[in-house]
Amino acid sequence: MLKKKDLLGLYDTSAEEIDEILREAEGMRKFLDGKNKKSDLLSGKSLITLFYENSTRTRTSFELAGKYLGASEVNISSSASSVQKGETLIDTGETLDSLKTDFIVIRHPMAGAPKLLAGRVKASVLNGGDGMNEHPTQALLDMLALKRKFKKIEGLKIAILGDIKHSRVAKSNLFGLTKLGAQVYMYAPATLLPKEIEKLGAKVCKSREEAIEGADGVMGLRIQLERQNGGLFPSLSEYSKYYGVNDELLKYAKKDAIVLHPGPVNRGVELSPSVIDGEKSVILEQVTCGLAVRMALLKLLAEYREAEL
Ligand code: CP
Repeated sequence: MLKKKDLLGLYDTSAEEIDEILREAEGMRKFLDGKNKKSDLLSGKSLITLFYENSTRTRTSFELAGKYLGASEVNISSSASSVQKGETLIDTGETLDSLKTDFIVIRHPMAGAPKLLAGRVKASVLNGGDGMNEHPTQALLDMLALKRKFKKIEGLKIAILGDIKHSRVAKSNLFGLTKLGAQVYMYAPATLLPKEIEKLGAKVCKSREEAIEGADGVMGLRIQLERQNGGLFPSLSEYSKYYGVNDELLKYAKKDAIVLHPGPVNRGVELSPSVIDGEKSVILEQVTCGLAVRMALLKLLAEYREAEL
């Protein structure tokens, strides 16, 4: 059983807790391959997704996770909510709490918003991505995809290339993967690489080849134009030429390496189309793993709530 009310990030989640989530998620992933995707594990519970930023994968998979497990589920997008009338995050959270909500999944452009909310509500808060801070369920689903391929995370070499500076996915993966004993190699233009990343456990490389050499997993990250004011690289075509991953570069990885990307992908920018659609790509399997991870988390947090609250 998880020993926490909320899932805010992997920085403060232990290796044992991550292992437990992945074990549960492996069971859910098998459940999703079955014909009947309906369970009553969360019957009588309620889930609200509160999204202040756009999403396809995270929001939809949390909503489906709730539905498949029998919970009542409602979505609030900030553009259609009382946030537009000036309501604060805390007032919104306390309102949702008064509706006897069990789980709130929040995505917010401000780093720390889920933590702020979690301290003010009885509901369990799950971080669906907060600014440039963390995206813990994305990293957990990436680890599930890796574990399904390689059976364990310990000892793997994972290369992460792209817009690391603005990426909450990169940070959550760095925390989670290193806690489970993987080595994380990173490569990006200097303008897209935070100086402190080495202190957090990443090995910074001088070239794409160095990062990918002998890698088990190669992860491309989206260029996050919405978090930049421009001027960090000359153009998207030059970015693709000097920093993108193509079939030639993949030859440096291990023969059985897999290619990951959190999505949405800018086709032909961070990964070439032939890599995205190639046999090493597990990008669509990642999406299914995302559903399994979110089902597992809802189940584990529900067990905690039943026992402790
Ligand atoms: N990877 C991810 O978070 O995708 P969405 O923005 O579609 O949720």
